[in-house]
Amino acid sequence: MRRLRVNIPGREYELVIGAGLLRSAGALLRDVIPCKRAFVVTDGNVAPLYGETLCAALRNERIEPSLLTVPPGEGSKSQAVLFGLYDKMLEAQITRGDVIIALGGGVIGDLAGYAAATLLRGIPFVQIPTTLLSQTDSSVGGKVAINHPHGKNLIGAFHQPKLVIADTDTLKTLPLRELACGLAEVIKHGAIADAGLFSLLEEDVSDYAGLIDRNCDIKRRVVEADEFDTGGRFVLNFGHTFGHAVEAQGGFSRYNHGEAVAIGMVTAAVLGEKLGVTTSGTAERLRRVLTLHGLPVSSDEAPDWSLTLTDKKRDGDTLRLVLLKEIGEAILYPIDVNKLLELLK
Ligand SMILES: NC(=O)c1ccc[n+]([C@@H]2O[C@H](COP(=O)([O-])OP(=O)(O)OC[C@H]3O[C@@H](n4cnc5c(N)ncnc54)[C@H](O)[C@@H]3O)[C@@H](O)[C@H]2O)c1
Ligand SMILES: [Zn+2]
Repeated sequence: MRRLRVNIPGREYELVIGAGLLRSAGALLRDVIPCKRAFVVTDGNVAPLYGETLCAALRNERIEPSLLTVPPGEGSKSQAVLFGLYDKMLEAQITRGDVIIALGGGVIGDLAGYAAATLLRGIPFVQIPTTLLSQTDSSVGGKVAINHPHGKNLIGAFHQPKLVIADTDTLKTLPLRELACGLAEVIKHGAIADAGLFSLLEEDVSDYAGLIDRNCDIKRRVVEADEFDTGGRFVLNFGHTFGHAVEAQGGFSRYNHGEAVAIGMVTAAVLGEKLGVTTSGTAERLRRVLTLHGLPVSSDEAPDWSLTLTDKKRDGDTLRLVLLKEIGEAILYPIDVNKLLELLK
């Protein structure tokens, strides 16, 4: 078992990472929050796999669980599903002395976290991520949100968890495509901040606990320096400006998020090399490592890059792109949008 501490003043919390931790979740929780009831939010795929194990672990510590299951998939980050959760929790007379637990991937973490941030102006929140993406990325940092018909994650809050428990055994049931999706963000972390991690990924990954530990440490450092996303977190956006365009063009179904980010990272590296900002050969290294892990490196259809113009990081005619100097170091590169579209042709 590994422990990492996120040091945000007044909102410190621990990330506990290891195999079989779900069975100790009650005891881990008890050490952090003295509560009598836990509302466990999960989805229809995860509930039959891990719901009962978690509930039993909670009951062992005299914490009474209620399992609230929502449909799997991005569609559950919606007003209707959120209000369904509010209804159930309010009917059960939830109080600030209870805890809301997210048991699942990033969708469940974002949804349950937003419910926890808003119900009664804030309920203690615990993340038990079960996908590689959520264990290495989304469960750390306190960003929680639901979607709006106008776009993804437009309604959200910052609500740091009190505890994150990543049980690496849960990855054994994760479909390969979802595992690859998480690896895309792991490769991103290596590319922007840890050349050693990147080299490791060029060979093999089998020690997931070690991998998650190293990734959480990168995300932890970035979040500690910029809790409210006012600048320092920008590096995490590497590959995402172009990735979002690829995702949107495929109607959010052709490519999943990680696959779109993979294509976006290669696009950013090729562009960086063209601009003389990125060490040559970087795009090729990215292509190789992504291919090794079953990720796409180019889109089937020629992407409509004008879709990048809706990027949140846009300021007038200038888009703040994240480019690599080399593997392990990212920089912010403001570019005129017309010049960008010209270069991408
Ligand atoms: N808050 C943040 O900082 C942040 C960062 C990155 C991504 N996100 C969000 O995360 C979401 C994507 O997360 P995700 O990729 O984990 O998707 P997800 O939560 O949809 O999970 C992917 C699929 O795997 C299933 N699943 C989950 N755990 C499983 C397990 N152990 N075994 C078998 N199946 C399992 C789920 O039911 C789902 O079908 C997006 O909504 C994205 O916006 C948030
Ligand atoms: Zn991402």
